[in-house]
Order: sequence, then C-alpha cells, then structure tokens
Amino acid sequence: MAALVVYESMYGSTQAIAEAIAEGMAPAGPVRVIEVGALAAEPGGSVISGDVDLLVVGGPTHAFGMSRPNTRLEAAKTAPGGSVISSGIGIREWLGGVALPDGGTRFATFDTKTVVKVKLPGSAAKAAHKHLRGIGGRPAADPKTFWVHGKSDGLVEGELEAARAWGAELASGLVRV
Ligand SMILES: Cc1cc2nc3c(=O)[nH]c(=O)nc-3n(C[C@H](O)[C@H](O)[C@H](O)COP(=O)(O)O)c2cc1C
Repeated sequence: MAALVVYESMYGSTQAIAEAIAEGMAPAGPVRVIEVGALAAEPGGSVISGDVDLLVVGGPTHAFGMSRPNTRLEAAKTAPGGSVISSGIGIREWLGGVALPDGGTRFATFDTKTVVKVKLPGSAAKAAHKHLRGIGGRPAADPKTFWVHGKSDGLVEGELEAARAWGAELASGLVRV
C-alpha cells in the first residue's frame, strides 16, 4: 500500500499529527508526508497518481471549517515566534484544484480543533471529506478530529498515540465509514 499524507499546519500540531499518522501506516508500505504548499509547488502537485492507494488530508479547523487566507493571516499575526509552517496556501485551495485518477482514490481526512467544554461546531476534516467525496474520492474512514489546547498551546495528551493508532487502522482497512 502506498500512501500520501498532505497536511496544512500553522503552529505545528497538525504537522505532528500527520507525521504520527504516517508512522502508524508505515509498516503497511511506503508513506509520503508533505506540507500542502510544498506539494502544490511541485509540477503535477495537484494531480493524484493512480499509484496512491490512500490519500490522507488534514489541516487545522479555522472559523468552523478549512482555513481561508484571512484566517491564516490572523494565525500568522499571533504566531509564537512570528512564523507559521503553512505560509502559502491551505488545504482548501489545494483541494479546489486537485484531480483524482479515474475511479477515484481511497481517502481519509483529519483536522485539529481546540478542546473546549462546550464543543465548537464545524470541522476542516468534515469539509475536506465532503469535497473529496464530491470529486469521486472513496472514503476509507469517517473524518477524524484530534484535539489541541487553545490556538497554539500544543496537542492534548494522548493525541499522538491516537494518531498513530488511526494511521495503523487506516492502513489495515479497519476504519469503518
Ligand atoms: C484564526 C483561527 C480560527 C480558529 N477557529 C477555530 C474553530 O472554529 N474551531 C476550533 O475548534 N478551533 C479553532 N481554532 C484553533 C485551531 O484549530 C488550532 O489553532 C489548530 O488546531 C492548531 O493546529 P496547528 O498547530 O497545526 O496550526 C482557530 C485558530 C485560528 C488561528
């Protein structure tokens, strides 16, 4: 099984989750993990090859969905250290131009969200899932959320382990949809 994990991340939590998912999938075959702007900059970076058995796409939830230029700008303004990881496009823009091979691609989406007492509505993972399904993708799992503290205070304890486990389940085809 060959897998491609594409992520967007401002402060590093979604990046860490993407890498942990890839670690979980690795025993099942080659996995490539790449930041969305870096992938988009490659020739053919929005064309998914028929050799990709599983496409995993994730990003931070911003303003109840996938980030937009204005939410990324806001995130950058308040970034600890002054810079963000995804300083160009986000998964919304990449997905807007992505092409899947004939017959679609198996896919799964994830996001990160702030843990709060009263659950906030909206999820980048759900929105990305809807988009990929709409262009002929074949869901391998329900959209998955991993939790962070505040906007940039890091992952909730146990989320890296949960991401590794989810990656392993995805790779073995166990995740229900
Ligand atoms: C502009 C902005 C809007 C946000 N909106 C939401 C939101 O609607 N719901 C939510 O749960 N978290 C929201 N967050 C928190 C992000 O989900 C959090 O910063 C992200 O998961 C951290 O991942 P990263 O370190 O990969 O950037 C927002 C953060 C920013 C910067």
